[in-house]
Amino acid sequence: MRQALDQVELYPDSNGFELKAVLAKRHAVDPACLTLGNGSNDVLVLLAEAFASAGDPVVISQYAFAVYPIAAQMVDAELRVARALGVDSEMPYGHDLDAMAALVDRNTKLVFIANPNNPTGTWLDPQRLRRFLDEVPDTTIIVVDEAYQEFTAGDAHPDVVEWMGEYPNLVVTRTFSKAFGLAGIRVGYAVSNPEIADLLNRVRQPFNVNCVALAGARAALSDQAWLDHVRTVNAEGLTQLREACARWGLACAPSVANFLLIDMGRDAGPVYESLLRSAVIARPVANYGLPRHLRVSIGAARHNDAFIRAMDGVLAA
Ligand SMILES: Cc1ncc(COP(=O)(O)O)c(C=O)c1O
Repeated sequence: MRQALDQVELYPDSNGFELKAVLAKRHAVDPACLTLGNGSNDVLVLLAEAFASAGDPVVISQYAFAVYPIAAQMVDAELRVARALGVDSEMPYGHDLDAMAALVDRNTKLVFIANPNNPTGTWLDPQRLRRFLDEVPDTTIIVVDEAYQEFTAGDAHPDVVEWMGEYPNLVVTRTFSKAFGLAGIRVGYAVSNPEIADLLNRVRQPFNVNCVALAGARAALSDQAWLDHVRTVNAEGLTQLREACARWGLACAPSVANFLLIDMGRDAGPVYESLLRSAVIARPVANYGLPRHLRVSIGAARHNDAFIRAMDGVLAA
């Protein structure tokens, strides 16, 4: 017994086999379908490195998560950006899968789809996502980035990992950085068919996830009560901030993530500066082509209250 314990201490899970075993069970897939990353950012970059080369088309949506264009640029790919849905649509700022499909051709190596998206919080209709997967060539890798999946629930947000058997070109990425609250330990992963995972695992650095992070991620997976708590607090916070926006007469994008994209109705820079003076840090998103918006994270009720009070002051000034 003592010898066995010593072995555990001497040989921690440095290859992530134990975490992969737990994740495989959670997603009902073979461990060979998994690729671990130093955050899901790492996995997104690995996908670009493994599947796109100089000049290869990579398709994303306007307002999509900023790492996709960066990953495409890293391999000198040809970035094709589909315009997002208009402000008058049912899903303002959301991915327009018709426009994205129109940019995909036989040469397209990768499509990055964020569901829900950061910084908009918008999500996709599952039927439309399925049709998109049917429409595009099966030689194009479709990455569905579900970094915020754990905040969503219900029929409107089915588990896309379950579609894996039908779409061998589908890759789903997840992270421990958001609902699990472990952004600092840097663990994310991809679920894909084993051939794709094999390629990703060849490209990654051998020990890209450290053993402290692997242990932390495993512990987090056993704490369902925490996830339930986070989901409830977040849903309440979204309602609280949406109600405040309605009171202020400010439009916000529909969100099922842990933030709200708010149209300040003016240049958001000075609003951001004023909020800072009240010790509230919001996220300017001018770099996404949204100079009038701020992305505001949902916190516990007292944090949301502090933001609302600070905004009341800004708007009264
Ligand atoms: C949509 C989306 N995907 C992926 C990531 C990367 O997160 P991490 O590398 O911490 O897993 C983020 C982080 O902000 C994100 O918003």
